[in-house]
Amino acid sequence: MDKGSIKLAPSILSADFAHLGEQVAEAERAGADRIHVDIMDGHFVPNITMGAPIVKSLRAVTGLPLEMHMMISDPDFFLSDFVEAGSDSFLVHWEGNNNLHRTVQRIKALGKRAGVAINPATQPTVLEEILPDVDQVLVMTVNPGFGHQPFIHNTLPKIRRVGHMIERINPECELEVDGGIDEVTAQLTVDAGANVLVAGSSIFGASGGVCVAMQRLRVAINSSRIILRSGQPFHSKKEYLCNLE
Ligand code: DX5
Ligand code: ZN
Repeated sequence: MDKGSIKLAPSILSADFAHLGEQVAEAERAGADRIHVDIMDGHFVPNITMGAPIVKSLRAVTGLPLEMHMMISDPDFFLSDFVEAGSDSFLVHWEGNNNLHRTVQRIKALGKRAGVAINPATQPTVLEEILPDVDQVLVMTVNPGFGHQPFIHNTLPKIRRVGHMIERINPECELEVDGGIDEVTAQLTVDAGANVLVAGSSIFGASGGVCVAMQRLRVAINSSRIILRSGQPFHSKKEYLCNLE
């Protein structure tokens, strides 16, 4: 995998909402590839976040693609509102959607990119039938609903399996990961085959600001040779930093 082609998608869930426009502009200046917007309804996940009006405001201040992560019970019902507000792509969950193929076709009929997300406890085989129809797959590396949760390490073999399925069925499809992505796990997930990384708290909550945080992630992505030299996966930031010394 060419490390230069790894995309970063800052998740605004951890941004300072009183200064959202500035935070997104900073991420754009720092080389963000898209902005990840977590839509939650308090039903599909135990948290409530934002709706189309915020997307409309974001559309006015950034040229970056706006990616909607739909953690809501009835995504179909809201698609056109979000498209009108300026959304470019939709990640919809396999879980709880009895008509996933229909949802994906609706997104495409609206002229937008479609992706399917799976939770940590969901088997990757559920993607098999829908893979030819999607532009992205999102493997959740935490349980959806909140930022700042620890990365679930046993999602790594699943990322590998999804990567192989993508190669076989739809090589153009992106393999995205979301949850607990920092300098250590960015590396691990890229080594497992991910090529789009969503990161919230490690970008917007970081000391030193958005730009420095994104540079740190890029450096981590580009140093996978250091990881490979050890021949071992890392399980903590301390272990990773020790290896750098
Ligand atoms: C969680 C969301 C994530 C969240 C990630 O349900 O889907 O996009 O913002 O936050 P971090 O990067 O802090 O784990
Ligand atoms: Zn998300």
